[in-house]
Amino acid sequence: MANKMWGGRFASAPDAIMEKINVSIDFDWHLYRQDIAASKAHAGMLAEQGIIGADDARKIVQGLDTILSEIGSGKFKFKRALEDIHMNVEARLAELIGPAAGRLHTARSRNDQVATDFRLWVRARIDDIDGLLSDYQRALAEKALEHAATVMPGFTHLQTAQPVTFGHHLLAYVEMAARDRNRLAGARARLNDSPLGAAALAGTSFPVDRHATSEALEFDGPMANSLDAVSDRDFVMETLAAAAIASVHLSRFAEEIVIWTSPLTGLIKLSDKFTTGSSIMPQKRNPDAAELVRAKTGRIVGALNSILMVMKGLPLAYQKDMQEDKEGTIDAFDALALSIDAMTGMVRDMQPDVRRMKEAAGQGYSTATDLADWLVRTLKMPFREAHHVTGRIVARAAAEGVELHKLPLKEMQLVEPRIAKPVYDVLSVERSVESRTSYGGTAPKNVRAQAKRWLKQLDKERE
Ligand code: ARG
Repeated sequence: MANKMWGGRFASAPDAIMEKINVSIDFDWHLYRQDIAASKAHAGMLAEQGIIGADDARKIVQGLDTILSEIGSGKFKFKRALEDIHMNVEARLAELIGPAAGRLHTARSRNDQVATDFRLWVRARIDDIDGLLSDYQRALAEKALEHAATVMPGFTHLQTAQPVTFGHHLLAYVEMAARDRNRLAGARARLNDSPLGAAALAGTSFPVDRHATSEALEFDGPMANSLDAVSDRDFVMETLAAAAIASVHLSRFAEEIVIWTSPLTGLIKLSDKFTTGSSIMPQKRNPDAAELVRAKTGRIVGALNSILMVMKGLPLAYQKDMQEDKEGTIDAFDALALSIDAMTGMVRDMQPDVRRMKEAAGQGYSTATDLADWLVRTLKMPFREAHHVTGRIVARAAAEGVELHKLPLKEMQLVEPRIAKPVYDVLSVERSVESRTSYGGTAPKNVRAQAKRWLKQLDKERE
């Protein structure tokens, strides 16, 4: 039997393989809420404009509400023969209300319908992700406040560089998440125009009110060009780009969790709640959640690459290629949401080994810069010279096999006779971090202020 929805000029049904490649209901069922909301807005507008009867519109809206609850409760039977969410809903509507259902698709095409549905869907997911990122920021800021003065090694090239505070390190990720939220908000603002009423590609001869449907669906306004309206997928590319960057940020932190929980560094502990064991090595405690967050970035960046490739070189207007915009995007949003949740969980769960952190912070001559700064400040040495002198002192310490603060004064004076006892004041890791009070620096008092500022801002967002 030919397709009920578009089979008028067809004599026979599609080949099984045609159906298999064409069908999208396996993933676009996710759009059911948006599809129904957009159809209700469209039906209401058609009646308002006198394009269909008020009675038919009422039946359509009631039928759509029934379908919404059928799908919500899992009772709805999706049919692959009906291709996609739009035709599954419309076919069921016909079963429920009869011929009036056939009037819903007046002045509309699946092309503007799917563009509308997917915009609404992406918009809703952006809002979810924003909420999750804000919870993540809160968890980070709370932990940062608790550990504003906990000293840890700061790294460049993964070599011990200078002591920093654990709180400061955590707040770096709060800043990244803030930019991620901002990028998503920017994508949201730009996607929020309505394609509905562009019809197949050219607009419609019916006296539709596109402003009314736009408003009903909480868009900012109708898209001004019908060709653009049905063929634009910037909103997918842009949102996935923002999601990809957010996920890259999470992967960096995830990698640090892997490093910090390794016995090689032993800087933090995750409880049993966020650790898994090995089936052969009884002693193992593996940070699987962090590893999986690190890996999920692959899917999310993959989805971005995929949509960029789908869109590249596509002529106007709608092409079926665009159906490929959904599967990767839906998967990417699921992966991102789960990754953020897992990171929030691990942030709340993680406990730094404060003693080990401090010990590691002092290794590798990490206060050498403090010594050089002391030479500059106290002896008025030019920094370049101070750098050289400090280098020679570090070499002596290395030869003696001691850390800088354990190197006897006499040894230092062999390199620079004017060095005096007060130098030791700046060589401890605590003094080092306390002295970094420049704006954005790692000093505990800065970290406390920044953590409080973030917590206050996050509270305000909730109001
Ligand atoms: N399932 C289709 C999609 O996701 C809906 C639009 C189909 N339009 C068409 N002209 N065949 O793109």
